[in-house]
Amino acid sequence: MNAIIEKINAAIADAEVKASAAADAAAIEALRIEYLGRNGLFPALSKEMGTVAPEERKDTGRAFNMGRNRIQELIDTAADRLAASGSGNAEHLDLTLPGRRWKAGHKHPVTIVADECVAVFRRMGFIVADGPEIEDIYHNFDALNTPQDHPSRDPQDTFYFNDGRILRTQTSPVQIRVMESNEPPVRIVAPGRVYRRDTPDATHGMNFHQIEGLYIDKNVSLADLKSVLQTFATEMYGPKVKIRLRPHFFPFTEPSVEYDFSCIMCGGKGCPVCKHSGYIEIAGAGMVDPAVLKNVGYDPEVWSGFAFGLGIERLAMLRYRIPDLRLLYENDVRFLEQF
Ligand code: PHE
Repeated sequence: MNAIIEKINAAIADAEVKASAAADAAAIEALRIEYLGRNGLFPALSKEMGTVAPEERKDTGRAFNMGRNRIQELIDTAADRLAASGSGNAEHLDLTLPGRRWKAGHKHPVTIVADECVAVFRRMGFIVADGPEIEDIYHNFDALNTPQDHPSRDPQDTFYFNDGRILRTQTSPVQIRVMESNEPPVRIVAPGRVYRRDTPDATHGMNFHQIEGLYIDKNVSLADLKSVLQTFATEMYGPKVKIRLRPHFFPFTEPSVEYDFSCIMCGGKGCPVCKHSGYIEIAGAGMVDPAVLKNVGYDPEVWSGFAFGLGIERLAMLRYRIPDLRLLYENDVRFLEQF
């Protein structure tokens, strides 16, 4: 037996006495520091190991490991004993402390606004439809009359999976899925997440939310679209908000419009949020293109309709006067708590 093994045995004997006498967390911590702490006995012995004669090295190493484990065990046992007896450390249960209030979370502002939108459309007779976020090219592009060379199909703009499916770039494929499985008339809204390879900035994210609307019946006109959108705007933002339709192009509507709200921040006078135009772009919309109706087997001579796609984040920004869309996704509770 060499000097190191002797020291280890003495340490174990000593630690056994101290561990069983330890009456509080501080005593246990002192024990740990004495033997296992950075300047404690075992790290020091480990340095001495180099001086041991080669033929004694194996036994000494074994004694060292066993000793260290034994002391850790003594410390753990003493800590368990203290915890079980409820004395002398931080885990002691103090029944006189007041209770902690359970903090229930609440809906995310995007969800709150999406729910409000859906409620408004339900009052106008729309029902909710749904579709997959992982979509195929047919439903996201082809059936929506999107030409092969349309820029939105570019892998620079759309996330493609290896099997050729994509993350849907819009909620419009839900139009196709609903019409494929239902006979007209149709009156649906479809809220959901969409994905684009955009660089995030104050008004764009890589994923965001839209609400798709589709209305198919006999003799539907652009005036019907306009009145539904105006009603929606009034219901959401009060009687002062004005809407504006601008000619635009979408492959699946003809004619197509972009649909703006007068800026809720400045009341239409012009401010940084509306880029001094007095209006904020909220949605794309238009009369469903006869080619789309044909693709789903509806007779365009009999049926007509309108569709729209609203950006939910934009609506939430206006509702809550949020200047930068990224705030919605940083998951900072101090921000989210406000809604
Ligand atoms: N899907 C279009 C977009 O994401 C919006 C849209 C929906 C336009 C329905 C017309 C009709 O930009």
